[in-house]
Amino acid sequence: MRSQLCLSSLASRIPVRFQEPMRFWNTWGVGGIAKAVMPITSESALAEVRRASSDAGDRLFILGEGSNVLVLDGGIDGWVILLRDDPSPPEIVRSWGNSVEIRVSAGYPLRRLVNWSVRRCLSGLEFAVGIPGTVGGAVAGNAGAQGRSIGDLVSFVRTLEADGTFSDWGKGDLTFAYRSSPFAGGTFWVTSVGLVLSLSSDGLVRQRLRHFASLRKGQPKNSRTAGCVFKNPPGGSAGLMLDSAGCKGLSVGGAMVSREHANFIENLGDATSDDILKLIDICRSRVRDQFGVNLELEIKVIGDGAL
Ligand code: EPU
Repeated sequence: MRSQLCLSSLASRIPVRFQEPMRFWNTWGVGGIAKAVMPITSESALAEVRRASSDAGDRLFILGEGSNVLVLDGGIDGWVILLRDDPSPPEIVRSWGNSVEIRVSAGYPLRRLVNWSVRRCLSGLEFAVGIPGTVGGAVAGNAGAQGRSIGDLVSFVRTLEADGTFSDWGKGDLTFAYRSSPFAGGTFWVTSVGLVLSLSSDGLVRQRLRHFASLRKGQPKNSRTAGCVFKNPPGGSAGLMLDSAGCKGLSVGGAMVSREHANFIENLGDATSDDILKLIDICRSRVRDQFGVNLELEIKVIGDGAL
C-alpha cells in the first residue's frame, strides 16, 4: 500500500508503467511482468526514485538498454528503472599533453559515445564499436573486447546509494577485473563517469575503428540476442569451445544457439527465459564434458528466482 502511494506520487511526474511485460525492455525480448517500469534520464530523478523505493521497502532494479540481461519468466516483483539517454552530451573536463579527460552520464549510449570520440579524433574507445548498451552498464560490467575493457580508461565514477546519497570514486578507489567492477553488485549505481582518452588523428582513429568492427563480422546482427552469453575462460575462447562441442544450431523451444557464432543465443520469435536457461545448461554441460571447463555466464540473470 505504502509502495503504491510512493509510486503514485512519482507517476504524476515520471511516466510509470504498471504491470509491464519485461519482454519489451531487453534485447532478447523475453521475461515476465514487472511491478512497475519507469524511464529516468536525470541524476536527481534517479536519486528520488531510489530513496522512495528504499522508504517503501521495495526492490529496485536498474537497466540500461537491457542488452546483457536475461529477465526470468517469473517477472520482477519490484520496480525497474530504465536509465535513458541524459540529454546532456559528454563534456571535456581537462586535457594535458595528448590526454583528454571527459565526463559522460551513465545513461548515454555507448555507441554514441564511440561516435562522439571518433568525431573528435579521441582514441581509446574504438574497441567498443558494436557493443550495445549504456555507458553506466558498460562500466558496471567492465565491458570489453579483444583484451581491452572500458575500466582501463575510467578516471572517476559518481555513484548513487539506496539512501539517495552520491559518492565520488577516484582512480585509486576503483578495481576493475575481467567483466567486473565495484558496481556490478547493484549497491552503488553508476550515474556519471570520467574517461581518459588520447588525442590522435582522424585517419588513425577511423582505422582502429574499422579494425575492431571487422572482428565482429562473424556475429549475428539481425536477430534478437543479448551479446555473448558466456565469459571467455582464462586463456580460452568460449565461442570456439561451444562450436567445437557442437552447440551451433542446438535449440530449445524458441531459443537457438546461433549458427554464426556459438556464444550467442537467438530468440527465434517466441522464446521464453526458460528455453534460454535450458539451452545454456545444455551448452555448459557439453563444454564441461569435452574440455573440463565450467563456463561462467557473462549475461546477468534478473527477476524472481534468480540467485
Ligand atoms: N570461434 C569459432 N566458432 C564460433 C565462435 C568463435 O570458431 O562459433 C573462434 C573464432 O574464429 C576465433 C575465436 O573463436 O578464432 C574467438 O572468437 P571471436 O573472435 O569471435 O572472439 P570472442 O572471444 O568469442 C570477444 C568478445 C565479444 C567481442 C569479440 C570481438 C567475450 C566473451 N567476447 O569474442 O564480446 O564482440 O571478442 O571483439 O569477451 C560480448 O561481450 O557480448 C561480446 C560478444
